[in-house]
Amino acid sequence: MERLELEGGERVLDFGSGSGQLSRRIALAVGGAGRLSCLDISPRWLELARVEMADLPWVDFHLGVLSQMPRGEYDLVHAHYVLHEIRPGMRGQVAEELTARLKPAGRLGIREPLYYNMLDWKELLEIFGRTGLALVRPPERHWWLAGPVIELILQHRVSPRPPPPRRTVTEAD
Ligand SMILES: C[S@@+](CC[C@H](N)C(=O)[O-])C[C@H]1O[C@@H](n2cnc3c(N)ncnc32)[C@H](O)[C@@H]1O
Repeated sequence: MERLELEGGERVLDFGSGSGQLSRRIALAVGGAGRLSCLDISPRWLELARVEMADLPWVDFHLGVLSQMPRGEYDLVHAHYVLHEIRPGMRGQVAEELTARLKPAGRLGIREPLYYNMLDWKELLEIFGRTGLALVRPPERHWWLAGPVIELILQHRVSPRPPPPRRTVTEAD
């Protein structure tokens, strides 16, 4: 959570929010000046999240898919233990949808399990690289619950500033 560097007031999308226990921590970090949107495809999980955060009116809940969420509006998109559940052939499309939700300076925070070969994180970097995102800092490995996990924080690659246009000297000069 600390690595997400939330200061309060941010707008966050929690993709695949599940039971909402982690989402609750994000909601408390952004506070009432911010907004957390929880998205899940499972009505059962979403209902649990709704109960978990019933006392936090700055949290909203969405049943369905990423394309229904606003584009370019989020300071942080959080995807915790979700991407390994997406079929490998669909991950490119999901990466595009996630990237499209970010504000220009927005960040994408990913944590995925490394055990049981659930997912190749280097492949994830390639997929997100194609959508224009790059690591903000080196990937971090931790031990979390059942085994090793990887954390990736990504952001739009900053393109080098183009040189100013050259001025043509005219007779008027
Ligand atoms: C392993 S759970 C993780 C839940 C939560 N992020 C956490 O870490 O506690 C994965 C969640 O992602 C949701 N999910 C999987 N594919 C999804 C998709 N395409 N769109 C939205 N939610 C999805 C599942 O319904 C489930 O709630």
